[in-house]
Amino acid sequence: MPKLTIDGREIEVEKGTTVLEAAQRLGVHVPRYCYHPKLSIAGNCRMCLVEVEKAPKLLTACSTEVSEGMVVRTSTDKVKAARRDVLEYLLINHPLDCPICDQAGECGLQDYYMEHSRAKSRFPQEAKVRRQKRRVLGPHLVLDNERCILCTRCVRFCAEVTKTAELEVMERGDHSFIDLKEGKALDNGYTLNIADICPVGAWTSRDFRFKSRVWFLKRTPTLCLGCATGCLVEAHHNDNVLYRLVPRPNAETNTWLCDKGRMTYKAVSAGDRLSKGVVKNGLMELEPALREAATRIDEARGAAAVLGSPWLSVEDNAALALLARDAVKTPNFTFDFRAEAGIRDGILYNKDQAPNSAGALKVKAAAGGLSMQDFARKAAAGEFKLVVAEARAASLLKEELKAGGARLIVFATNRGDLPDGTHAALPYASYFEAPGTFVNFQGLERRAEPAVTAPDGVKPLWEMVGKLAAYSGTSLRLESAGDAVKGLNR
Ligand code: SF4
Ligand code: SF4
Ligand code: FES
Repeated sequence: MPKLTIDGREIEVEKGTTVLEAAQRLGVHVPRYCYHPKLSIAGNCRMCLVEVEKAPKLLTACSTEVSEGMVVRTSTDKVKAARRDVLEYLLINHPLDCPICDQAGECGLQDYYMEHSRAKSRFPQEAKVRRQKRRVLGPHLVLDNERCILCTRCVRFCAEVTKTAELEVMERGDHSFIDLKEGKALDNGYTLNIADICPVGAWTSRDFRFKSRVWFLKRTPTLCLGCATGCLVEAHHNDNVLYRLVPRPNAETNTWLCDKGRMTYKAVSAGDRLSKGVVKNGLMELEPALREAATRIDEARGAAAVLGSPWLSVEDNAALALLARDAVKTPNFTFDFRAEAGIRDGILYNKDQAPNSAGALKVKAAAGGLSMQDFARKAAAGEFKLVVAEARAASLLKEELKAGGARLIVFATNRGDLPDGTHAALPYASYFEAPGTFVNFQGLERRAEPAVTAPDGVKPLWEMVGKLAAYSGTSLRLESAGDAVKGLNR
């Protein structure tokens, strides 16, 4: 393993490590634009120039491999002057867009200019090369060619990660610009990562543009519930409004996020969000809706059933198990959600579109219950007069439930999720509003953490289940989500 010295500190790294990566391990940040740890090395922006003893010129740290006895200096006068020159060069044709640019506050050009340059431009404003602005490319992105510094991260992302190669650099010299290849559309399912990795404001998200300045955003680490991969995300929000999801890169699951997962936050404030109960298609205040649901459960006692859900947390499934065991007092319940799982597209998206099939199976292991096959058979044969379920799980069995004619009481966050024939629906707090434990397809247990608060009166599902049980005369003794899991072992 070669040993080298960076800014007077010795370090030993594996053969093949670049100077930039070795410096990073010592906590020395070498400025960079084109370098990205998950993309091939392009070495085109020259922002990472460093001095290497015995080398006649400055070298690019991102593309220079370490060698035994190398002596590297990252902040000599020569390096500092080179950084200033590179920035001046990159800014020559850059528009003065900062006040209206969405990237302001998280822009590589702004940040490095403040840190390494602050020089006045010697280039006349009227001589700047003008390029196309505000080009809508694909369902999620807008491209401003004038702001591009031609680092080619976007081109390499499409060539190397999604392997769809929609983008290329056209023309030469200061006429160069990023463009779509002829006949291609930019809709590969992962396009919003391009806005994340573009170091400037050339690619921006159509969804997020002009919604909020980034310095107002608060950040909550949580996870995506769009499928069984369970990618780690950061939810960005302000004043109880969610604005966007960005990846929290980690070694186990994800560097990136898929476009579908990114948009899952929108259901929280969608027009069909439920904050009241629904009975026979009409909205009803929460307490009367709970009373109605409890009355129907009491009527169906002996022929009522409870269906868990792979879209619910372990705790909320446990609460449903307690409802079945202690309040409805029925053996007719199931948490048997086996699904084919695994990465479907070679990148992130999972064959299992539900986030917690594995968590539901854990509840099955603790609570028992019917196999899914038996539950479905009994439902179709009309053995259940009433079924309590989570809306999307009920939709999985819609044919059987319809054939058996059971009355359906569902928990739902959005009206659009209600299956046909729902008798009553009760709202609950989404997992952007209440915490919960999920188990992804690899068996990793992860926590969803609340970033915003639920609409007035809307409670987490375990609490709604406790209220429903109380209305039908049973206390489930649920003071917290954790009580539901503990209750299973009582
Ligand atoms: S659009 Fe952004 S990511 Fe693509 S080359 Fe230009 S600066 Fe780099
Ligand atoms: S792959 Fe799945 S978990 Fe990851 S962002 Fe997409 S929907 Fe979410
Ligand atoms: S980061 Fe090294 S040349 Fe761009």
